[in-house]
Amino acid sequence: MSRLEEALNEAQAVVVEQIDRLLPSTDLPEARVTEAMRYACLNGGKRLRPFLVLTTAGLFRVGASSAARVAAAIEFVHCYSLVHDDLPAMDNDDLRRGQPTCHKKFDEATAILAGDALLTKAFEVLAGPATHADPQVRVELVGELAQAAGHHGMVGGQMIDMLAASRAMDMMEVTRLQSLKTGKLFAFSCAAGPILGKAPIQQRQLLDAYARDLGLAFQIADDLLDVESSTEQMGKKTGKDMAAGKATFVSLLGVERARAQAQALVDQAIGHLDSFGPTADLLRDCVRFVVERKN
Ligand code: IPE
Ligand code: IPE
Ligand code: MG
Ligand code: MG
Ligand code: MG
Repeated sequence: MSRLEEALNEAQAVVVEQIDRLLPSTDLPEARVTEAMRYACLNGGKRLRPFLVLTTAGLFRVGASSAARVAAAIEFVHCYSLVHDDLPAMDNDDLRRGQPTCHKKFDEATAILAGDALLTKAFEVLAGPATHADPQVRVELVGELAQAAGHHGMVGGQMIDMLAASRAMDMMEVTRLQSLKTGKLFAFSCAAGPILGKAPIQQRQLLDAYARDLGLAFQIADDLLDVESSTEQMGKKTGKDMAAGKATFVSLLGVERARAQAQALVDQAIGHLDSFGPTADLLRDCVRFVVERKN
């Protein structure tokens, strides 16, 4: 097993344990929404965002339980975004991570509520004293995640994505759409370590630049996989972007140039890490993995 595989498995274990602890099953009358929340975030996934939180936290010797709580918080927001993205009013998908989507397993109203509650749970966790002894650090995490998730962040990207099916877009517009839709949550994940560790601004900026390139490389790979991979391999329906007539990096550049662009972003992302030396090797491995992945 490569060191990255080991680290991703470790992130998977840490985040599952933390989510299970933060979202215990109950027998209260509202248990159905709790079960839908657990279903949406205890069902596999690559856990890339938690991995980035844990790994950037490791660069600044942040305590393990602080990092684990922030890792769970970003995964709550990511999973909420997937639950809502799969709803009939949005992408109308039946399969996610190889299993029925939340609204298929439960029902639409429950899936909407589960998404809402996952989003708010993330902020409850960040605001909790166990996340960091310094309240200023907790407020900064809350503010950064709110911006990353909101109307000029992930939600803004989803809005433009919904509009993309009905109008042509150029490279600049698609790049902005993707930077918001997927890039912002990656950027928060890489900011979490330096915020928790009160790192110098220069190091935070370098990790932000890394996250931006990583996010775009990730999205180009997602677009390539949507064209080239199978529903079975991905655990979610493929071929959807073209069917919806959405402009993507692949529709604009073609497969070969999109692949070359992803590779250029890998090199550029790694370039931002020079001053960190070998301690950032996992981050270097991660960006290579993101474009080589098969699901
Ligand atoms: C899928 O993200 C949604 C996009 C942002 C394209 P991931 O590929 O990280 O999904 P999981 O968490 O591994 O299922
Ligand atoms: C969804 O993008 C990204 C977010 C939920 C923010 P997609 O619609 O491309 O994701 P998949 O392909 O369904 O995972
Ligand atoms: Mg979508
Ligand atoms: Mg989708
Ligand atoms: Mg996609």
